[in-house]
Amino acid sequence: MAELIILKLGGSVITKKGEGKAEVNKEVLERLAAEISEARKEKEFPLMIVHGAGPFGHVPAKEYGLHEGLKDERQIEGFSITHHSMEKLNFLVVEALRKAGLNAMEFQPSSIGILRNEELVHFPTEALEGILNIGLIPVAYGDVLVDEKKGISILSGDHLVPYLAKKLNASRVIIVTDVAGIFDSNPKENKDAKLIPEINSGNIDSLNIGSSTSTDVTGGMQRKVRELMRLEIESEIISALEPGLVKKALLGERNLGTVIT
Ligand code: IPE
Repeated sequence: MAELIILKLGGSVITKKGEGKAEVNKEVLERLAAEISEARKEKEFPLMIVHGAGPFGHVPAKEYGLHEGLKDERQIEGFSITHHSMEKLNFLVVEALRKAGLNAMEFQPSSIGILRNEELVHFPTEALEGILNIGLIPVAYGDVLVDEKKGISILSGDHLVPYLAKKLNASRVIIVTDVAGIFDSNPKENKDAKLIPEINSGNIDSLNIGSSTSTDVTGGMQRKVRELMRLEIESEIISALEPGLVKKALLGERNLGTVIT
C-alpha cells in the first residue's frame, strides 16, 4: 500500500508507566493526537497506529504468567483480565484521536491473530486494507493471543508492527518512545549516553543496546531493533517527549532520532 505509514506509540509514552499506574498519560496522548491530526491536515496518507501496553498489559500479564504459555486454569482469567484492560486503553487512545478530529477506530488483534511460539503466523489483513483504503485510521495494540504451540502468549506491538509493515507493504515505520532514539548505553542511567543516529547490519553487533525495564513481558530494545532491521522498510525510532517530532516525522522529515536501515 503506497504511502502507508505505521506509527507505534510505546506503552511508556501513552501511559503512566513510570509511576506503575494503569492510567493514560493524558497530556502526552492529547498532544500526540493533535500532532497526528495536524500532519493529516497538511498531507493525505494512509495511517495505521499500533500502541503498546504499559501497566495496562504488562502488570496483569506478568501476574498471571501469560508469557509462559497456558499451564493452568487461572491463566484463562488472566487472559480475560489482560485483554479487557488493553481494550480499555485502546478505547482511551481512540477517544483521544477522535477528539483531535481523526477518524480512528479500535482494531482488536486477538480476535483475528494466531501465534506459534510467540511468532505471528496468522493475521488476515483484507478487512484492515479495506479500512485503510477508505481513509479510516485503525488502531491496534499489543494483546494476548491464542498460540498454536503454547496455548496462549503475548503479541507485542513491536512484533505486530514489522509483520504488518511487510504484509501491507508500508512505506515507513515510525516508533515513538520515551527516549530520543537508541543510545550506546541507557540514557536514563548514564548522562554520557550517546544517541546512535543510524543502526544497520554493519554496526548492530558492535552496539550495546540496552533492554527496557523489568516489568516488560515482551523483551526490550534488542528484539525491537532486530525485527525492524529484518524489514526492508525504512524505520525510525523517535521521542514522543519533544513536541513536534511526531508531526515532522509523519510529514516526511528524517533523522529525528535513530534510523534503522
Ligand atoms: C504488550 O505490548 C502487550 C501486553 C502485555 C498484553 P507491547 O510490548 O507493545 O507494550 P509496551 O510498548 O512494551 O508497553
